[in-house]
Amino acid sequence: MKMWSGRFRPQLDPRFERWQRSFDFDRRLLGYELVASRAHARALKHAGVLSADELISILQGLEQIGEMAAAAQEFVEDGEAEDVHHFVEKQLAARIGEVGYKLHSGRSRNEQIATDLRLYVRAAIDELHRELAGVCAVFTDRAEQAGDAAMPAYTHLQHAEPVLMAHWLLAYVEMFLRDADRLADCRKRVNLCPLGSGAVAGATLPLDRVFMAQELDFAAPTANSIDATSDRDFALEFVNLLSLLSLHLSRWAEEMILFASQEFGFVRLPEAYSTGSSAMPQKKNPDLLELVRGKTGRVMGSATALMVTLKGLPLAYNKDLQETQQPLFDAADTALALLPLVADFMKAVEFDQARMNQAAQVGFMNAWAAATYLVNRGVPSRLAHQQIGKAVKLCLEKGCALQDLSLDDLHGLHPAFDQGFYDCLQPAAGLAIHDVVGGTAPARVRQAIAAAKEKIESLREEVHAHA
Ligand code: ARG
Repeated sequence: MKMWSGRFRPQLDPRFERWQRSFDFDRRLLGYELVASRAHARALKHAGVLSADELISILQGLEQIGEMAAAAQEFVEDGEAEDVHHFVEKQLAARIGEVGYKLHSGRSRNEQIATDLRLYVRAAIDELHRELAGVCAVFTDRAEQAGDAAMPAYTHLQHAEPVLMAHWLLAYVEMFLRDADRLADCRKRVNLCPLGSGAVAGATLPLDRVFMAQELDFAAPTANSIDATSDRDFALEFVNLLSLLSLHLSRWAEEMILFASQEFGFVRLPEAYSTGSSAMPQKKNPDLLELVRGKTGRVMGSATALMVTLKGLPLAYNKDLQETQQPLFDAADTALALLPLVADFMKAVEFDQARMNQAAQVGFMNAWAAATYLVNRGVPSRLAHQQIGKAVKLCLEKGCALQDLSLDDLHGLHPAFDQGFYDCLQPAAGLAIHDVVGGTAPARVRQAIAAAKEKIESLREEVHAHA
């Protein structure tokens, strides 16, 4: 039976009928539709709409549907179901007879889809949190393994200063932890229950909304039925967070691709995650990294699709909202598939630490340390900068490094130079001067590793609490 055939005379145009269905993609919400229906059925019983026997038979019917779906994929192939809500209604009636149609009393698909999607997003957030904790743990492990190995840090993609490799890796951990934090914040707004909102004005039966919210582990019922049935902010917010998360992954991928190029040679691509060229026999291509970067466009596309779909909608439910589902699912699937691959790749990748260390010592990476030496000897910073600039110029003329200049050369620039200058140019000294919270001095980085581990641990606890 159609869900709304009463007021219609002719049959629907068959091509239109087929085209407007959402079952092909919303059947993945079946599990959520069933638990939400269970909560609604219980509320109907409390409201006196269902007898105890009717409730039992509806609950059993719903359970059977879940079991059948779990047992065989063909069960959810249904050429007639308009959407997941229709599918459950049909199946319930097929199993328990006419009493199955009582389940829809006092509710609307508008609140159902809003509820199912919130349950879906909430579960996706929890899964993403778990995966993000895994990614952060791998990056932090690699940081710990890197010990005191140095590498160049770049600004404007030009040699800037030496840093610990661990410091560089932890920069990504910070980004991913922020993503996790944003997801946790988003979860608060997702975690409200639309059940009992009806089609737009609120349920037509005295349903206990607090009870239904509790049944589904939501923090509370939504506050306004018009908003609750038309709101997809939670999906939009979520997909935008995913855009930002994949943007971070994309920046990482881009940097790794660069570092794996022959010119940098910092990264040796693991063969398990690379492919060759059908034409050029020597090639080993960074496909995983390129696809990570490429998938970001897709997630951002989903965020844009959601935004554009929502921007012109009057309150409350409009069928356009059905179009928010696929971008939402696609963005979540894409991000969820990326994270474990990134973690595994990061476990397997090899860094050429000797080459990174070597690169950290050329190209006047110690120039700021040199200027700092003068500042510590009382030379005003602007002047120190200027004198070291002149020293660099002299080196460029002579074709040497700062440490190759003689004290005579240096005294020609400023009388404050002495033998100690050569010590400050050592790579280790260059790292040690950045001895501030968040800086690259080895002791600070060790503290940062410990702090990252703690944050990962509390993320894991959060995951555990929601499991
Ligand atoms: N399949 C629909 C959707 O995803 C369910 C809600 C339909 N509501 C309606 N009034 N036609 O949006």
